[in-house]
Amino acid sequence: MVKITHISIDDPLYEQEKTLRTSILLEPIGFTFDDYLDMAPGREEKSEHYVAIVDHPTGTKVVGTATLYISENEDGQRIGKVQQVCVDPQRQGEGIGRRLMIAMEARGFGELALEQLYCHAQLNAMPFYERLGWSVDDEVFLEAGIEHKKMYIAAPKPIDQER
Ligand SMILES: CC(C)(COP(=O)(O)OP(=O)(O)OC[C@H]1O[C@@H](n2cnc3c(N)ncnc32)[C@H](O)[C@@H]1OP(=O)(O)O)[C@@H](O)C(=O)NCCC(=O)NCCS
Repeated sequence: MVKITHISIDDPLYEQEKTLRTSILLEPIGFTFDDYLDMAPGREEKSEHYVAIVDHPTGTKVVGTATLYISENEDGQRIGKVQQVCVDPQRQGEGIGRRLMIAMEARGFGELALEQLYCHAQLNAMPFYERLGWSVDDEVFLEAGIEHKKMYIAAPKPIDQER
């Protein structure tokens, strides 16, 4: 059974989180984990860390990751940047990525009361976010030499404002 949980970087599972992110997201674009940290010093510590875990005879195994970084936009609204979303290739297509995103949306729009979540999506991952109801900007930009588009979702409106 896969469980989604929110960990601190002091958690023993953090090492596995880093290893999975490195092998799926960073090494393929020629980055080490330290290169990633250097792109935004301090952000890793300030982000919330989400992992998908399964029980394994050798101990708990991390099979998916995502991070959430909270900041303010130019209008002073609190927003969250979703980053480092990945799932172990052996477990892709099982709904684990979707569950990670739903966990972050629930926390972001629930307890944290954020106005918006956004991410910089690689073009080949865009359909994954679209399936979750995220919108996309037209502009294509390069990040780490790879084409990306900004994707975002706004906080759901309270029911009495929908009428
Ligand atoms: C993108 C990724 C996180 C998706 O995780 P996953 O667990 O395989 O996705 P899920 O099984 O939860 O899929 C949810 C839905 O998105 C769709 N989907 C997932 N990845 C997709 C892709 N690359 N292209 C098209 N559709 C995709 C699934 O078919 C599913 O659709 P459904 O609503 O019809 O069931 C995973 O494939 C991955 O780690 N890819 C490599 C790293 C990466 O690209 N990360 C994103 C960087 S921006």
